[in-house]
Amino acid sequence: MIHSATNHRIPLSDGNSIPLIGLGTYSDPRPVRTCVLGLKMAIDEGYRHFDGAYIYNNEHEVGEAIREKIAEGKVKREEIFYCGKLWATEHTPELVRPALERTLKGLKLDYVDLFIIEIPMAFEPGKGMYPKDENGQWLYHKSDLCATWEVECHPYFTQAKLWEFCQQHDIVIVAYSPLGTCRNPRWVNVSSPSLLKDELLISLGKKYNKTAAQIALRFNIQRGMVVIPKSFNHKRIQENFQIFDFSLTEEEMKDIAALNKNVRFVELLMWSNHPEYPFHDEY
Ligand code: A2P
Repeated sequence: MIHSATNHRIPLSDGNSIPLIGLGTYSDPRPVRTCVLGLKMAIDEGYRHFDGAYIYNNEHEVGEAIREKIAEGKVKREEIFYCGKLWATEHTPELVRPALERTLKGLKLDYVDLFIIEIPMAFEPGKGMYPKDENGQWLYHKSDLCATWEVECHPYFTQAKLWEFCQQHDIVIVAYSPLGTCRNPRWVNVSSPSLLKDELLISLGKKYNKTAAQIALRFNIQRGMVVIPKSFNHKRIQENFQIFDFSLTEEEMKDIAALNKNVRFVELLMWSNHPEYPFHDEY
């Protein structure tokens, strides 16, 4: 099927569907109102999928923007796909429902379209969102996470094995950090090369009159992966959505796939001694 800016949902086995591109909403710092404005611009541009979380501290702004655009008549609730997330201190089964209800209350919406586990490592409940003991050590917690996995994906981390497995089993991948993140040294390995400065992505961008970011996003959606690039900047929100009016050749797809360096930007090294730290394993 040929996807376009107005028609790019992919079907899910439960009868629902997910738009191939979503807007990431994690932002640090969080200038007041930028999120509401960014979201509203994104809805005007045609974005219908929003990737948020309670821990991002701006879910109420995301909800406000969605509700305003619904009230304006620009979109209907059923056209929006919102993904919320369960934070690490709330993995205990009885805490899940209240966490979801808190998300709905913040958004002031009746339902979310997807609610996923934010990170597959639990922290001790009841001691704040980032609990530490009196010696400054992280307070980890046990939980059953066998069905959980994390998927960062971009040309430097193409996830070939996982992608093949998911293709075979009809599983849709949502690729986070598709532009290589904001390179925030608090949680990103900034010694890794910067994806958007890649020469091949830049030169392919020149060929198609696109940017390296658009080539990176196109690469993922052309493999059938959903992408959730974050931006609250009007020009970049627009830019990231303009990926349906060109396609990469098979040769170019292969060349981009060959850029893979197994570079994981989001390493979360501060939690690498967590017994459930997910990135020691191969996926
Ligand atoms: P900003 O929010 O100021 O636009 P990822 O989605 O991989 O986590 O990357 C998000 C980071 O990339 C943010 O810092 C965002 O900054 C920046 N960004 C988003 N879109 C683009 C783009 N088209 N070109 C360059 N940087 C971008």
